Amino acid sequence: MSSIDRSDPVILGHVLAEHRDLFNLMLCVRSSFAAAGGLTPDRRAAVLASLHHLRDHLCDHFNQEEEGGFLEESVARMPRLSAAVRSILCQHPALLAELDRVIADLESAPADAASWTRADHAFEMFSAHMTAHERSENAVVQEGYNEDLGLME
Ligand SMILES: [Fe+2]
Ligand SMILES: [Fe+2]
Repeated sequence: MSSIDRSDPVILGHVLAEHRDLFNLMLCVRSSFAAAGGLTPDRRAAVLASLHHLRDHLCDHFNQEEEGGFLEESVARMPRLSAAVRSILCQHPALLAELDRVIADLESAPADAASWTRADHAFEMFSAHMTAHERSENAVVQEGYNEDLGLME
């Protein structure tokens, strides 16, 4: 695709860096779930710490996106993206609530193997939803800035 309007490398670099950070934080949660050994209080605390870290970061990330920036700019450049951006932003509360449920379940449930497996599975579901969300954002930015960023896998 030819580029009519060159992208702003600062904004685009920022989007990619933010999404990579989130991906890495999700990987940290996954590896703490997958760490070898029995279900010890330390292991449970490590998973919860990584979940809270991700939650804080995600909340800041969503706030930034909602306050303006690359999504708003994509719509300004290409108004037909407005419905897609509205629907992307509407997903934020549900994603945060989904992560909050994983945290709350793990904090309130007894430290048994069943609750651990349930939380692990619920986090995998959250990760899939989050990955789909970020892909939609990357696609909007790619289209809005009319630039092949190599974001789509
Ligand atoms: Fe988002
Ligand atoms: Fe995002």
